[in-house]
Amino acid sequence: MDATRRGLLIGGAALAPSLAIAETSVDPTAPPAIRAHLGVTENPFGPAPAAKKAAAEALLETPYYAWALEPPLVKLIAQRDALEPEQVGLCNGSLEALSLLSTAFGKGGPIVSARPSYATPLLYAERQGAKLEWVPLAADQQIDLPALAARAQATNAGAVYVCNPNNPTGLLLDAESLRAFCIEVAKTRPVIVDEAYIEISPDPARNSMMDLVRAGHDVIVARTFSKVYGMAGLRVGFIAARPDRVKTLKSMIPTHKGRPGLAAAAACYGDQAYLSGAKAYLEGCRKKIYAICEANGLKHLPSYGAYVFVDCGKPNLAFQKTLAAMGVEVRVFDSPAHPTWIRVGTASPAELDYFATVLPKALKA
Ligand SMILES: Cc1ncc(COP(=O)(O)O)c(C=O)c1O
Repeated sequence: MDATRRGLLIGGAALAPSLAIAETSVDPTAPPAIRAHLGVTENPFGPAPAAKKAAAEALLETPYYAWALEPPLVKLIAQRDALEPEQVGLCNGSLEALSLLSTAFGKGGPIVSARPSYATPLLYAERQGAKLEWVPLAADQQIDLPALAARAQATNAGAVYVCNPNNPTGLLLDAESLRAFCIEVAKTRPVIVDEAYIEISPDPARNSMMDLVRAGHDVIVARTFSKVYGMAGLRVGFIAARPDRVKTLKSMIPTHKGRPGLAAAAACYGDQAYLSGAKAYLEGCRKKIYAICEANGLKHLPSYGAYVFVDCGKPNLAFQKTLAAMGVEVRVFDSPAHPTWIRVGTASPAELDYFATVLPKALKA
């Protein structure tokens, strides 16, 4: 049941006189409500039990600002990732840090990124005046690192953004190629490595560029509690970067963090038992999406994200509408090279089952 409907029923008795007006304003031709939310990249597995408990306890303290919870969380992250506390900057979800840093770096030159990728922070920076330089993916759908480096040099870029695993493709870059790229490019400009889904990768420690931050390179690793940790609604993320980059971020963040999110993050960061359950859940979802695609003859990429990039073989915007009319929400991306691709998010088994029943009909429509 969606929130509007729930609200109507809860408030039903008190609002009885106005319900008649609501009834007459229903549009009988409106499409059904979305029943399968596959357009988002969350983790319905949900937070670790310890995180839920900590968030619930933190609610009791909500009359008070949560400044005092920030330094211990920074310290905990620094200890777990062998960083100095000055190399860790908290943010309200990694989108905040990615957006603000892209805006700041955008003042020094364009931001170079692969396309398609997670464009939201870059488009925010563009609205604040930054110029964006998009580099198409290579033929194998991977981020084209040599082309990114060349474009960064040619345009005297303010920064380069790399999302690994990439969103929406879900592909993971070869760790050593990315490492060599970061070391080289970061000699002249910051490299932002968005690792929102890195915990899902087979060997997160090897695939992460955190070691380059430790070694002092101008690499900014962005992480989040929204994805594998199942806490998108609590808005906690962080960057690992050179202390001057952390200072820049702090100088731009206008507000403080919420108490339940900080408490929950401190209760679960690096909890391997929880992470293996969350990863297994997401892997199960991805396998289910692969099976649905294969049963319908659709090509898909192998993914390390909380989503699968699927070639539906039809113009994607129209197909997105067809699916929405049948109660399924998926995302399409602004990429000239991907006019027939949709991104299908991992979700609850019931939502994926619903997708499985709707997809054959949508493909025939
Ligand atoms: C690749 C990537 N980076 C960052 C984010 C931002 O997530 P949050 O702000 O919740 O940490 C998202 C969310 O969809 C994402 O897909």
